[in-house]
Amino acid sequence: MIKMININKQYDLGDTQVRALKDVSLEIQRGEYIAIMGPSGSGKSTLMHILGILDSISSGQYFLEDYEISSLPDKEQARIRNRHFGFIFQSFNLFPELSALENVMLPMSYAGVPWQKRKSRAIELLDEVGLGHRMNHLPTMMSGGEQQRVAIARSLSNEPDLILADEPTGNLPTDKGEEIMQILEKFNKQGVTVVMVTHNPDQGKRANRIINLQDGVLQNELSSNDSIKREDLRAE
Ligand SMILES: Nc1ncnc2c1ncn2[C@@H]1O[C@H](COP(=O)(O)OP(=O)(O)OP(=O)(O)O)[C@@H](O)[C@H]1O
Ligand SMILES: [Mg+2]
Repeated sequence: MIKMININKQYDLGDTQVRALKDVSLEIQRGEYIAIMGPSGSGKSTLMHILGILDSISSGQYFLEDYEISSLPDKEQARIRNRHFGFIFQSFNLFPELSALENVMLPMSYAGVPWQKRKSRAIELLDEVGLGHRMNHLPTMMSGGEQQRVAIARSLSNEPDLILADEPTGNLPTDKGEEIMQILEKFNKQGVTVVMVTHNPDQGKRANRIINLQDGVLQNELSSNDSIKREDLRAE
């Protein structure tokens, strides 16, 4: 589904530069469940932003199916982003003035889905993440775990091929984080490709594949059976 070849990402800050990704080459097959790990500042979020076409690359090639992303105009990139990707962030990022139901319906309105269909699909998704009884709650009336489940339902609203989750359990207590992991794994079993950043080695081991970044460089991939050294993965 995805092929990246020698991707570089550089941030220019006046006279200094940060090379956040260095010659990263990566393939992702449909249906995979991938964990991205590595120390703080190693480029994990940068890689997620580039995968999700939220940010541009400095050099290299990014193929999504038959598209070479960086050669496309912005409008086309946005269309591909909305059609292919769902995003989940550590900080939930729900709209505070919208109910759970409205938050899940919103991306479908951008995609031009009729109101009745938006509503029925949002209800179905909220049911699937166990929030059938919280449809009309505002984010401030929900726990962190509930808010993250709304965010998952929202990320799935336009039937993405791939979910990009950047530390989705980072702000949650262990038991609530476990619920989020199980929901992501349920959707992966239904065929959605999942790429997740995590600092938690036990979570990483549950993925089919672990991508290890160190200082912007992709290390040899670990299989989930390899023992993971905590000091390699710690958050600083
Ligand atoms: N917008 C930006 N402008 C300049 N430098 C940036 C920008 N975003 C990230 N960086 C730098 O790029 C490097 C990679 O950052 P990134 O956010 O990808 O790290 P990360 O692996 O996600 O870290 P964390 O685990 O702390 O979230 C860091 O050195 C960071 O300071
Ligand atoms: Mg990050």
